[in-house]
Amino acid sequence: MSETVLITGASGLLGRALVDRFAAADFQVLAHCHRHPGKDNDHVQWLAGDFSASKGIGDFLRKNEKTLRQCRYLINNYGPITLRPTIAVQGKDLLADFQQQVVPAVDITHFLITRAPLQMVLTIGFEFSGEIHAYQKILGYAMAKNALLLLTRSWAAAYPRVCFNLFSLPSLEKAKVLPKQAQTVPAELVADRIFHILSRRRSGFHYRYANPPAASKK
Ligand SMILES: NC(=O)c1ccc[n+]([C@@H]2O[C@H](COP(=O)([O-])OP(=O)(O)OC[C@H]3O[C@@H](n4cnc5c(N)ncnc54)[C@H](OP(=O)(O)O)[C@@H]3O)[C@@H](O)[C@H]2O)c1
Repeated sequence: MSETVLITGASGLLGRALVDRFAAADFQVLAHCHRHPGKDNDHVQWLAGDFSASKGIGDFLRKNEKTLRQCRYLINNYGPITLRPTIAVQGKDLLADFQQQVVPAVDITHFLITRAPLQMVLTIGFEFSGEIHAYQKILGYAMAKNALLLLTRSWAAAYPRVCFNLFSLPSLEKAKVLPKQAQTVPAELVADRIFHILSRRRSGFHYRYANPPAASKK
């Protein structure tokens, strides 16, 4: 019997690569989107939901409860970047970043732990997960992404029957927002890495993304 994975933000840049990778491995993919669903097929079912407020997340979970009860894998991928000069950041901006990054991951993970045979969770961090920096434009985003790191470690201790992973993602090729001189990686390569991490069925913190060593020349 094939396994079921829920991928949030599945209609985005990394999301679509993840959908293709897991579908190619015979998974049943529940692909969350907001406004841009793909086409359903034998392996992929698109589920729409607005995660900009808690009510929308609750509506998504209630509406799809029967389908979501099959999930053994969850990829918390939704988490849009926000840009704001640090000097202009107010409390409401931090709340908005936590609403986008943390609240969907918490509510969906909790829902699946209590109602589905959940075994594996992977949450997408960002390039500097776990590092201390002085951020000029992404302070709220960085704070919320690092909260996901603390959540992942705490969940792993609280729910020993589930494996929790945090993946520290570098900038993607074709990303709409790229830091100056960013080193980018293709979304397909990242999706393949994530697939193999989840196949290991262990908890882990994948802080440093390094390209695989080049094949040695003969
Ligand atoms: N891109 C990068 O270089 C980069 C670098 C580091 C970390 N990351 C992280 O990697 C993850 C994926 O990033 P990405 O660049 O692939 O994302 P993306 O292309 O910007 O995708 C955005 C996704 O969010 C969905 N969405 C938008 N508004 C929504 C709403 N109100 N409610 C629910 N869903 C909504 C979109 O759905 P529709 O299109 O259907 O509306 C789409 O699926 C994120 O966690 C991001 O923080 C990205």
